[in-house]
Amino acid sequence: MQNRSQQYLKRSVAILERNSEVIPGGLASINRKADPCIAFARAQGSRMWDVDGNEYIDYHAGFAPYILGHNDPDQIDAVAATLRSGRSNYGSGPTEDEGELARLFLSCLPMADKVQFVNTGSEATAQAIRIARAVTGREHMIRMQGGYNGNQNVVATNLMTSAQELGGKNRPGEEYPVVPITAGIPKAEQALLHPVPYNDLAAVEIIAKRYEIAALITEPELQNIGVIKPRPGYLEGLRTLADKYGFVLIFDEVKTGFRASLGGYQQVSGVSPDISTFGKAFANGYPIAALAGKRRFMDACIDADPKRRVLIAGTYNCHPICVGAAIACLKKLKDPALRVYDRLEHLAQRLEDGQRKILADSKTTASISRIGSAHCVYCSDHTPVDWWDLLRSHDFAFDLRYRKALIEQVIYNVPVATKQGSISFAHTDDDIDQTLEATKSALKVLKQ
Ligand SMILES: Cc1ncc(COP(=O)(O)O)c(C=O)c1O
Repeated sequence: MQNRSQQYLKRSVAILERNSEVIPGGLASINRKADPCIAFARAQGSRMWDVDGNEYIDYHAGFAPYILGHNDPDQIDAVAATLRSGRSNYGSGPTEDEGELARLFLSCLPMADKVQFVNTGSEATAQAIRIARAVTGREHMIRMQGGYNGNQNVVATNLMTSAQELGGKNRPGEEYPVVPITAGIPKAEQALLHPVPYNDLAAVEIIAKRYEIAALITEPELQNIGVIKPRPGYLEGLRTLADKYGFVLIFDEVKTGFRASLGGYQQVSGVSPDISTFGKAFANGYPIAALAGKRRFMDACIDADPKRRVLIAGTYNCHPICVGAAIACLKKLKDPALRVYDRLEHLAQRLEDGQRKILADSKTTASISRIGSAHCVYCSDHTPVDWWDLLRSHDFAFDLRYRKALIEQVIYNVPVATKQGSISFAHTDDDIDQTLEATKSALKVLKQ
């Protein structure tokens, strides 16, 4: 199936139209709306099929969770066994399974003492911030321009902000204006947020001197605007500043956790956060998330003083289906015989090497940034160091055309500029080679 065009997406278009009569926007998560807006019907391993019967090699991975691939057979068996076992979401008392999951989880994260489970990454980051505020007795927060830490009021600002919204100029060593990514955040809450440039320690220090900072939350590398890596010493510098000014260092590892390595980016960098948040890869696509960290912070939910105690509660926290799915996933990720991370590295390197050659041969201005199986092709002569750099150097229009041309060649990266791609354990050398052939064809079409 090659060189397909919109007419092959007839049923996708009809479904969006029909859904829009009853769902605002036609779908349940507005950031799933892209052009083309494909309705998928089935997925297995590295492949997805849409409602019109077209087959794709998938690198979107549902916004990154699918580290083992879609519908991993061992995970399906575990989930099916859970469903048939008589387990229920009792809503009272502990379960043996949640204890097993916690021990398995912490065995991957030597820098954390304890863990709590919630349902989504957004809940995990909001909860981590609440703990930081409760423990420090402070309210102000530092976050990164270009970072995403979830959909809650406490963080939903300053992602892919336009230059105009940022006041038309870069602000090294300073904070940016707060630019919400949703309506409805009270001004009083916005006033507690201080977005700074990533990779800029001077900016963090100035803000830490200016306000009573409860916490700094950051993805250790920014993976919601491609893959932007920390400069050498940056994360260590954040650790030093957190200790110097008494704020809590929160690594949001919802994307990097269990993907950058089994121990997340904290293992790669060797920098120990106070609290870190997880979701996505540790359950290979099932809705469970976590916050883990040092005892002093994690025990805030059992503080003897009710005025200092942080509420952690949720009807569906540790739902048995998700616990079963997460245990099955972690067992596979940890299995030395499978060497999951070696395989991911091999596949990702093969893709990167091939892309570099093809992009150079076709004289396309591009640079590639990658950590393990997470990767991004920037349409720029260098890999950016922060959002402003990206905004100024990246050819957003070409990026979109490139993604759409690849979709026409059955390679699915989400058609939104700068979004990161993810390789799964289910991808094969053959998938990568097909992707590279498709890349050649896509570029040929674009250069015509
Ligand atoms: C780094 C990061 N933090 C938090 C979240 C929010 O997670 P969720 O969508 O599960 O609420 C995301 C989602 O993409 C994310 O990438």
